[in-house]
Amino acid sequence: MKSYEEMIRERRGILKSHGIEHEEWEPHQRKGILPPPLEKPYPKDGTLVDLVKPNDISLGDVSLMKAINQRQSRRKFTDSALTLEELSFLLWSTQGVKSIDKNKVWTKRVVPSGGARHPLETYLIINRVEGIEQGVYRYLPIEHKLLLVAKHDHQLPERVSTACYGQTFVGDSAVVFVWTTIPYRSEWRYSVIAYKDILIEAGHVCQNLYLACEAIRTGTCAIAAYDQKAMDALIDVDEENEFTIYLAPVGKVSARARGAK
Ligand SMILES: Cc1cc2nc3c(=O)[nH]c(=O)nc-3n(C[C@H](O)[C@H](O)[C@H](O)COP(=O)(O)O)c2cc1C
Repeated sequence: MKSYEEMIRERRGILKSHGIEHEEWEPHQRKGILPPPLEKPYPKDGTLVDLVKPNDISLGDVSLMKAINQRQSRRKFTDSALTLEELSFLLWSTQGVKSIDKNKVWTKRVVPSGGARHPLETYLIINRVEGIEQGVYRYLPIEHKLLLVAKHDHQLPERVSTACYGQTFVGDSAVVFVWTTIPYRSEWRYSVIAYKDILIEAGHVCQNLYLACEAIRTGTCAIAAYDQKAMDALIDVDEENEFTIYLAPVGKVSARARGAK
């Protein structure tokens, strides 16, 4: 068994920068192996939900200074539902695709990503969104649509809170954003040094969610305290090639909690 000191040294290594000139780590990209898909494939007969197109969204016209200044972790949500336009705005603000390479090797999105690999997927546990049935969904950033993953299960809010070690406000939210990673998307280019980038990128995405929420009188709270197996089972991912790394419940926040006059 490894000693505590060895474990610390090994794990701290993930935070450091390592050169990429190691023959034994030669990335698959350099070996000429074709890249993985830009977004997780989905069944052709899957149930899709249309979102409000980015060009038709008329929300979020708030000064950046104000959104940054007001940002805080929100853990008290009202019972109000989010509108479809609000959800569309939040999804686009976190993973919206702006262009796709003609060879389908990279996408450019609203957030930065090492090598434009974008190794994250977004799942939604929907509780209260107007016009969308409760259930588990996945955002398809290229199509800007939702894919139904699992229909409503009455226990869903409780199961989410339990999977977050009893943080009940998570299940009280209107929708929970759950970010998974498909690590191979980054490993293909960066091999065994991909992991630092993947974690940094989740931070970019969640910060955009915080700011976008503040712009539409909703709130969120980053969550890293969750049970890996329980959360992966909830959104139906395989734990090995794709697994949860971060999540954030979103809900309406009262004017009082926002400190509005
Ligand atoms: C990586 C990360 C993980 C976090 N995990 C949790 C969590 O599991 N539960 C929670 O209530 N807050 C969590 N938070 C929110 C922090 O508690 C919060 O950001 C901190 O208290 C500062 O408050 P502020 O965001 O309002 O400035 C997390 C924040 C980050 C950045």
